Amino acid sequence: MIFLLEYQSIFYIIEITIMNIVAKPKILLIDDDELILESFQSCFESLGYEADCESNPEKALERIKSNEYDLIFLDLKMEPIDGYFVLSEIKKTNPFTTVIIISGFGEFDDAIEAVEKGAYHIIKKPIDFKDLQFFTKKAWEFHLIKTELRKLKQELGEKSVHSNKFITKNPELLKTLELLKEIAQSDIPVLLRGESGTGKELLAEMIHEASHRREYPLIKINFASIPEDFLESELFGYTQGVFPEATQDKLGKLELADGGTIFLDGIGEISTSFQAKLLQVLQTKEFEPLGQFKTKKIDVRIISAININIEEAIKEKSFREDLYYSLKGVEFEIPPLRDRVEDIPLLVEFFIQKFKNPDLDVKISQEAMQLLKTYRWSGNVRELQNVIHRAVVLTKNGLITSKQLPLEIQNRNIHNEELVSLEELEKTHIKKVLQKTSDYKEASRILGIDLTTLWRKRKKYQID
Ligand SMILES: Nc1ncnc2c1ncn2[C@@H]1O[C@H](COP(=O)(O)OP(=O)(O)OP(=O)(O)O)[C@@H](O)[C@H]1O
Ligand SMILES: [Mg+2]
Repeated sequence: MIFLLEYQSIFYIIEITIMNIVAKPKILLIDDDELILESFQSCFESLGYEADCESNPEKALERIKSNEYDLIFLDLKMEPIDGYFVLSEIKKTNPFTTVIIISGFGEFDDAIEAVEKGAYHIIKKPIDFKDLQFFTKKAWEFHLIKTELRKLKQELGEKSVHSNKFITKNPELLKTLELLKEIAQSDIPVLLRGESGTGKELLAEMIHEASHRREYPLIKINFASIPEDFLESELFGYTQGVFPEATQDKLGKLELADGGTIFLDGIGEISTSFQAKLLQVLQTKEFEPLGQFKTKKIDVRIISAININIEEAIKEKSFREDLYYSLKGVEFEIPPLRDRVEDIPLLVEFFIQKFKNPDLDVKISQEAMQLLKTYRWSGNVRELQNVIHRAVVLTKNGLITSKQLPLEIQNRNIHNEELVSLEELEKTHIKKVLQKTSDYKEASRILGIDLTTLWRKRKKYQID
């Protein structure tokens, strides 16, 4: 019931009604009191539900390991192991099971502690048959909604996940990847730094995929693309009617990410006043959806990305130092592509394979590769990816040459020549003419110098 109030959307209610007709819960009842087992069992039967019963908690643990229960009704005071221990084992083996605590007289405080440790609700003994029927139905509804919500969140997260391969042979980046694997399992916040297109989002996806949170969604929010006025509603969500456009309840990205990871992209773009709000959420892991005067607690891992010079922003007071420290549990800097030229051939090959027709073989000429290796790549890997995609589409005979590269890359040689000294230019030109002519006489004629001058210059520039 409580849950229905929280998620009032018609979608869920219809979904649940349909599921209720067809699905039945898999129930386990654990209590060392045989009378309780009997009375609960007959209540479940009256609802058409089947339940396994266990009076021995050790045997119950075995059942939990080999079965996936939807609902577990659990007594707290048992021998030789108590309900708390059983609860912690359930949370480890099947965290999605809905656990209901059966609490005896005087055990209510303990039962509340169990709820804080992840149980859904408490039933006080003795319980009326009708109340138990009602409660069991509600717990089943809760379980169905929770399962549905989890699936929905997962789909949302999956939509944005793309190829999770970070191609590199740069020693610094290889070390970073190793370290990322190690910290992925922890909940430590990660701050990714690097120019645009260096692969920050790709790394965020890899961290999430390597973490224990991978079954839950990775939710991304790009601060650079959302106007400041909408940030709160995007992150925190809202209830219907709280502002004119709020025609229905909306879950915020923080809540959608619950259990998973939230990727705060372009964190350098937000105002200092929003930075303060964000800092508070990060520290308390609590927030209030707009229009709901109720705090929600979330369990999320934070990964953020920034492509501004944060040290300077802190000095200029446009970025809060405390927020920076809160985001950078660990910090990784991805070097720009021009500083790791050794990665260019690998990435080129990777993108050719990605974009080419699987039935065709596509290669790249040495001259084109040379141009790619010397280009500045201000858009980094994203720009290289686009260039290769375009070249693969344009190539006709399966060979990418300089002609299939954009003009600014083709003209790279001309730009280079413009920047060299006159001597260098003379040397290259003489070499070029000698290569294209059959003898020194012809070359000297084209160059407009006599044979002796050509001989002297060949000696000076060591041209054979
Ligand atoms: N090392 C890599 N191997 C393979 N693909 C890569 C690599 N680095 C980046 N990419 C690809 O390049 C594109 C840009 O990367 P990404 O979106 O992760 O960059 P970013 O650092 O988040 O950029 P921005 O700051 O502009 O948001 C993506 O398609 C990504 O898959
Ligand atoms: Mg990005």
